[in-house]
Amino acid sequence: MEIIIFDTAQQLDEYGANYFVNTVKQKPNAVLGLATGSTPIGIYEKIAEKYKQGEVSFSGVTTYNLDEYAGLSPLNDQSYSYYMNHHLFSHIDIDLKNTNLPDGNASDLQAECKRYDAMLQTQPIDVQLLGLGHNGHIGFNEPDESLNGGTHLVELKRETREANARFFSSLDEVPTHALTMGVGSILKANTIVLAVRGADKADIVKQALTGPITTKVPASLLQTHPRVIVLLDREAGRWLA
Ligand code: F6R
Repeated sequence: MEIIIFDTAQQLDEYGANYFVNTVKQKPNAVLGLATGSTPIGIYEKIAEKYKQGEVSFSGVTTYNLDEYAGLSPLNDQSYSYYMNHHLFSHIDIDLKNTNLPDGNASDLQAECKRYDAMLQTQPIDVQLLGLGHNGHIGFNEPDESLNGGTHLVELKRETREANARFFSSLDEVPTHALTMGVGSILKANTIVLAVRGADKADIVKQALTGPITTKVPASLLQTHPRVIVLLDREAGRWLA
């Protein structure tokens, strides 16, 4: 595991963006695993800038997102589908047909999970971007006695809904369930880039990266992966020696 601590959030974003841009330059038909939440926004902005400067084309790229809320239409501005279009896809030349998120609005959510997994089987992810939840979740794989390998429907913990309530007008509006790639699928990615910012994540960063490997801290399973790059700002990395 390579851990890089940056002085500023801008440096973290620049490094993260360059990592993805260089991946695509070396492999124009790369398969990228993407995340939502507040952490990747700066990385996506810098990727879009680099595209506008003519540094890279995403026309051959395929993307898979980690997760999507259950019950929100892609047109809902809180859906992750909307987020991806807003923060990244509408700013680059990616073919929207090659962008994939679990369909949280599918009539049969279990069948949707199977469909998503089947697609992931055929297109292994080259680089997967992850953020980190305060409780150690990655994607929406919440701490539990055991974890699911593949894409599945999950009931969100109250703390996760509370953390995400900042994007909604009230806690009641935050969906109770989501579809998420499983930890098994995440660990199949060739390379994983975990980006974390802020003093409020410093404790969980230390637990996930240096504590016991346990399903109670889903991100701790990243310790078992051979190619993980961790990007931290000073605050998030403050408890690491
Ligand atoms: C988002 C996701 C989540 C977030 C995590 C951190 O697709 O899968 O695991 O990465 O909740 O969210 P932020 O970046 O908002 O702190």
